[in-house]
Amino acid sequence: MNVAFLGASKGMGRALARRMAERGDRLFLLGRDLDDLRRSAADLANLGATGEVGVAHCDLGDRSTFAPALAAARAALGDVDTVIVTAGIYAGQEELERDSEARERLLTLDFTNTIQFCEEARVMLLQRGGGRLCVFSSVAGERGRKPVVLYGAAKAGLSYYLEGLDHKFHAQGLRVTTVKPGFIKTGMTAGLDPPPFAGEPEGVARDVLKAIDRGSPVVYTPGIWRWVMLVIRYLPRAVMRRIGF
Ligand SMILES: NC(=O)c1ccc[n+]([C@@H]2O[C@H](COP(=O)([O-])OP(=O)(O)OC[C@H]3O[C@@H](n4cnc5c(N)ncnc54)[C@H](OP(=O)(O)O)[C@@H]3O)[C@@H](O)[C@H]2O)c1
Repeated sequence: MNVAFLGASKGMGRALARRMAERGDRLFLLGRDLDDLRRSAADLANLGATGEVGVAHCDLGDRSTFAPALAAARAALGDVDTVIVTAGIYAGQEELERDSEARERLLTLDFTNTIQFCEEARVMLLQRGGGRLCVFSSVAGERGRKPVVLYGAAKAGLSYYLEGLDHKFHAQGLRVTTVKPGFIKTGMTAGLDPPPFAGEPEGVARDVLKAIDRGSPVVYTPGIWRWVMLVIRYLPRAVMRRIGF
């Protein structure tokens, strides 16, 4: 695969990029800290990524960086057949209720700008007759829930957008994979109490790569979260109002 990867510097993105490098995929890294990206690129090259692992500046907070970053990936790789987006941010519900700037930032990065980036990627992939677009959403978007009212709303919107893309462009060769992780132990969740079924980034990387290879439209990871969320989706509203989940 020839992959443009936004978010490979940390957490699940880092684990997924490392797994891709180990099997010899070609990678080009997009992100906001070029020194950090170059360190990640060297690590991926050591692990076995094919060819040079290039980098380009891309800040999810700044839409003007999206098209140039994808163009740099295409110029370096010759052809980009896969775009992966693991970049995103999280903030707790109380902070987001209190702080309208934090709220604006989270909704902009995790919803509006992630979609703007995906639109640039969609156009680029369709121009070459299709390809794979894999984007990290969350189980938090499956149901309105007290601890993640705002983060969950952003991820719900993102998941619906990705589902719509899959319906509209599948016949033109676009394969969209929406990743719905449960609680995963990364920097993003450091300091939070891990619930039962908390996962590790390496397990996510294994599940996601399998899903991309198969062209699966949705992957829950760890897989148990598919069943947890099935139950949650069908819980009556009166129960959801009472419980803290
Ligand atoms: N961890 C969980 O339990 C969990 C559960 C469900 C869904 N998710 C979702 O899964 C994805 C990955 O989460 P993670 O836990 O692996 O997070 P993480 O370890 O915090 O890594 C987040 C990544 O996003 C990048 N990023 C953040 N802000 C950016 C910006 N403005 N521009 C460009 N890149 C930016 C970071 O790059 P820098 O190196 O520049 O900071 C980093 O590579 C996110 O979308 C998250 O919402 C996470």
